[in-house]
Amino acid sequence: MKTKRIVLFASGSGSNVENIVQYFQTKPNVTIASVLTNKRDAKVIDRCNRLNISSLWFNKIAFQETDCILDLLKGINPDLIVLAGFLWKIPEKIIKAFPNRIINIHPALLPKYGGKGMYGNRVHKAVKENHESESGITIHYVNENYDEGAIIHQAKTKISADDNADDIAAKVHALEYEHFPKVIEQLLLSQ
Ligand code: GAR
Repeated sequence: MKTKRIVLFASGSGSNVENIVQYFQTKPNVTIASVLTNKRDAKVIDRCNRLNISSLWFNKIAFQETDCILDLLKGINPDLIVLAGFLWKIPEKIIKAFPNRIINIHPALLPKYGGKGMYGNRVHKAVKENHESESGITIHYVNENYDEGAIIHQAKTKISADDNADDIAAKVHALEYEHFPKVIEQLLLSQ
């Protein structure tokens, strides 16, 4: 396999970014070209510094109103763009420039608990409030609508009645760490 390049987008803690970076550290055919974030003080930036991975912060103007990030991505020409806890909607021009090359992870079993405003702990609180007996993860392609692109992979976890939202989050994160890097690798292999 020729060397594949990934670009990661994240908005917050970046524990998935760290897990993906560590997974591919032992795989010489996959390079993390860059980590991009929309939050200047996101913890993911500290993680990248520690992991010796380049990270870049951008604002709404660069992302939505100019072609700055689009041109940056075109320059990198990544084989896959991976949203790992990224909370802004991807502009249509970026989606069009990278057809079937942008994927997202969502911390629930879509189509349940998806859409605008459904992210992170909000999802787990809603799952708890509805007394669900299971939750999970969904890895899907990104299209113009939040959480509506074709599903690539789902994995489930059981929820017990005494699990609170944090317990659910921990179970879902464990699934993310287990499945996300492998799904990324599979997609790269099948290109
Ligand atoms: C992850 O659980 C991811 O599924 C979720 O944000 C978390 C980021 O955690 N994404 C969404 O909610 C997108 N709608 P991390 O920063 O520790 O990787």
